[in-house]
Amino acid sequence: MLDAQSAVTLIIESLHMRILLSALFLIFSIQHIYATDLVAQGKALIELNCASCHAITKTDKSQHPDAPAFRILSQRYPIDALAEAFAEGIYAGHPDMPEFQATPAQIDAILAYIDSIQLN
Ligand code: HEC
Repeated sequence: MLDAQSAVTLIIESLHMRILLSALFLIFSIQHIYATDLVAQGKALIELNCASCHAITKTDKSQHPDAPAFRILSQRYPIDALAEAFAEGIYAGHPDMPEFQATPAQIDAILAYIDSIQLN
């Protein structure tokens, strides 16, 4: 049989555990919402700026014959490498590809979306 002191200690410990678990759950939920939101933002940006030439989903076809479908980009290089390329404006020089000035936050969103549709 527990004495009153140990019972109180047990109750307090289990409360702490619950608070800790709730806090963890909240953190994971926020991260999940943030990640989902980032992909959605990226999709919106891509629909606006890239879809006129590139295939932007897992199944559509590129409008521009030379523009690679975004879903195969990871077969060419790691998606992370694109961040640097965007930041340095490597694509600005391509004849058919318009210069796209993205903020770092927009680049993050675009890459999160591209990453989410890779086939492999
Ligand atoms: C006006 C048409 C057009 C638009 C709009 C366009 N692109 Fe492109 N993009 C191209 C073409 C054409 C190529 C192929 C260039 C080549 O292979 O030389 C290309 C290539 C690329 C590549 C691959 C480069 C490589 O070396 O593999 C990436 C990544 C890319 N585009 C990203 C984007 C993003 C992101 C957007 C929107 C912000 C965008 N493009 C908008 C026409 C376009």
